[in-house]
Amino acid sequence: MRSYLFVPGDSQRKLEKSPSSGADCLLVDLEDSVSLSQKPAARLMTRDFLKDARSAQPSDTPGLVVRVNPLNTGLTDDDLAAIIAAKPDGVLLPKSESGADVQQLSAMIAVHEVEAGIKEGATDIHALVTETARGALNAGTYGDISKRLRTLSWGGEDLSADVGVETNRTGDGHYTDLFRYARTVTLLGAAAAGVEAVDTVYVDFKNADGLERECREAVRDGFSGKMAIHPSQVDIINRIFTPSDAAVELARRIVQLFEDAGDDVGVLSLDGQMIDRPHLKQAQKMLDRAKSAGMA
Ligand code: COA
Ligand code: MG
Repeated sequence: MRSYLFVPGDSQRKLEKSPSSGADCLLVDLEDSVSLSQKPAARLMTRDFLKDARSAQPSDTPGLVVRVNPLNTGLTDDDLAAIIAAKPDGVLLPKSESGADVQQLSAMIAVHEVEAGIKEGATDIHALVTETARGALNAGTYGDISKRLRTLSWGGEDLSADVGVETNRTGDGHYTDLFRYARTVTLLGAAAAGVEAVDTVYVDFKNADGLERECREAVRDGFSGKMAIHPSQVDIINRIFTPSDAAVELARRIVQLFEDAGDDVGVLSLDGQMIDRPHLKQAQKMLDRAKSAGMA
């Protein structure tokens, strides 16, 4: 999936508008965008939103993921109790500090799935893994821990507070080393765990050029999608994360080349270039991305 739009779980207006945003996935938020006093209302609103979306279920319904509150708040289980029976596609865990947190969440979800009569394992997990210093240092611990895990993504705002930095951007708008590190270990951690890496939000939502630049850098570096905070960001993200026709055609030719050559071949040539197994792997990833972007 290319675009993941955050929608505050206590805003009827934004919830109603969100399905028509064009986002591939909605991240209905029960965490930072909802004040403590609003949490109970947000849970009910989110549950009803999920139920309505499930009963309407037009073919272009976006993915529905709920961001719950972090494990150390004591709020997570109440969040899950309200929403799992309404069948979200997944749960986004913020401030995850290691693979063990995902395992813990998975066990908590399983209880609610059983109670609701839903198939155990039906609910996916997405994790935000660099929001604390400890989390950033443990980004490599997500392999082989849960079949539910789908994506890893990173966050800069909370890490700023945890480490105590003055700013997370340099004068020319690029991330400082701490945040480049967090971004990079997310890419590595996701690849090592065999899941997709999703780039963090771009908060300056009126700056389309800045967002476009950040999307291009994210595609270049191996992210499969990006999170958004405002509907106006969705089209830009979808456009830039949709692979070009030429790239997809090349990937098809590479896969075909290996298919024609049979199992025992390691290296081949295409248009005068050496093509080996890593190119095949890359080509298969490209075709997966094309498929999830709706390009046949
Ligand atoms: N999802 C759905 N609809 C949204 C939206 C969102 N994330 N953000 C804005 N909209 C809607 C608004 O309701 C408004 O529609 P309306 O005029 O018909 O009511 C329209 O899009 C334009 O919004 P705009 O006035 O430009 O933005 P705003 O000033 O109302 O809100 C934010 C700005 C940043 C507060 C808002 O975009 C938002 O809540 N974003 C998500 C925040 C969040 O979830 N953060 C947690 C993760 S970091
Ligand atoms: Mg946060």
